[in-house]
Amino acid sequence: MTGSVPDSFAGPLPREGIGAEAAYAEVLARVVPYTMGNDHARFWGWYMGTGTPVGNLADLVASALNPNLGGGDHAPVLVEQQVVRWCAEAVGYPTSASCLLVSGASEANLVGLAVARSAVLGPTVRTEGLAGVWTVAVYASSEVHSCHRKSCELLGLGEASLRLLPVHEDQTLDVAALAQREGLWLHVDGAIGGFLGLSAHRDLVRGMARADSLALDLHTWMQAPMDVGLVLVRDEAAHRATFSVVPAYLRHATRGLAAGDVWFTEYGIDLTRGFRALRVWMALLAHGADAHGAVMDRTTALAYRLAELVDGHPALERLAPVGCDIVCLRYRVDGLDEEQLDAVNRELVLLVQESGVAVVTETTLRGRLAVRVAIGNHRTRPEDLDLFVAALERLGPRAVAIVTG
Ligand SMILES: Cc1ncc(COP(=O)(O)O)c(C=O)c1O
Repeated sequence: MTGSVPDSFAGPLPREGIGAEAAYAEVLARVVPYTMGNDHARFWGWYMGTGTPVGNLADLVASALNPNLGGGDHAPVLVEQQVVRWCAEAVGYPTSASCLLVSGASEANLVGLAVARSAVLGPTVRTEGLAGVWTVAVYASSEVHSCHRKSCELLGLGEASLRLLPVHEDQTLDVAALAQREGLWLHVDGAIGGFLGLSAHRDLVRGMARADSLALDLHTWMQAPMDVGLVLVRDEAAHRATFSVVPAYLRHATRGLAAGDVWFTEYGIDLTRGFRALRVWMALLAHGADAHGAVMDRTTALAYRLAELVDGHPALERLAPVGCDIVCLRYRVDGLDEEQLDAVNRELVLLVQESGVAVVTETTLRGRLAVRVAIGNHRTRPEDLDLFVAALERLGPRAVAIVTG
């Protein structure tokens, strides 16, 4: 390809087509070589799944069939009903819960908090909005994901309604600071660890099934192609009461295509819904739920292995205990102050990405910049960790030289 990649996407609307074959050639030339790379064994950025061939095949079939999963009486709806029941079973949640596949944990959390808001404030929140409501508080860990702030804002509660609770030294929530006796709605964000019940580390999520609502991601540790998440709500009536609007043209019938007991559109935001369910259903059928748990065990073991390598290395320092499969570390050089160490590690993250060896990202932990390695990747092997540590050894001094001039 000649010219820069962004420039190759600057052309105007094509009024006449070039044909499918030529369009596909453009995909191969301009898109495929420049994707995110998260199907690679050493992609450990943010927290992403890496997809599977079975998921790819399911997506091809799903888009070829192209059904609308808003509702109706057809097999794809039954696939989604079965897959959400399977997921509830996998995480030890009642299979009587109402469940819905969504775009990811952000939407799952928004739906869960919307049901909580309706359940706490009553039906007038749908007719009158928040008029007359004094305050609503959402208690969460100080380390809670940023999507909860978005949810509070979108639900009209405002960012100020999010009250952040202290965490222990290992960054876990001080659950004793949650007040069960106050009758709060308990919502669990299980975006990363929600399916740990399938793994040998199931103790880490003991008690999760007590939640009134639960948000899960399937495109993270469960490896489904993006995007797909899941929300479960214990009280089906409360869930439906939050979202159901059935205009005349969408009335459910007792026969024909508009039959069907459950219309997903009554439980969430979207009316038209794609066949995300197939990529999860087919993967669970092909590999079995236990294989997914085994991936969690394997990637957790890899994280502990990386932690060992870091702990044994004179130029590396771990910045947090390993909970499951995320390792936070930094490159350390004597004589540099904290600000310089932050700058060195920010530069190091970029150098590692640009080297093509691995993708890791940055975060801040207790005021210190950390190189964050999120190994939710079923393709990672122990040798990949050695290559990564070797890259840190090689690129660390270069990052120091860039920062200190
Ligand atoms: C704890 C947590 N909650 C919510 C989210 C948002 O999930 P999604 O990106 O699927 O919307 C993430 C993303 O990684 C997360 O880690």
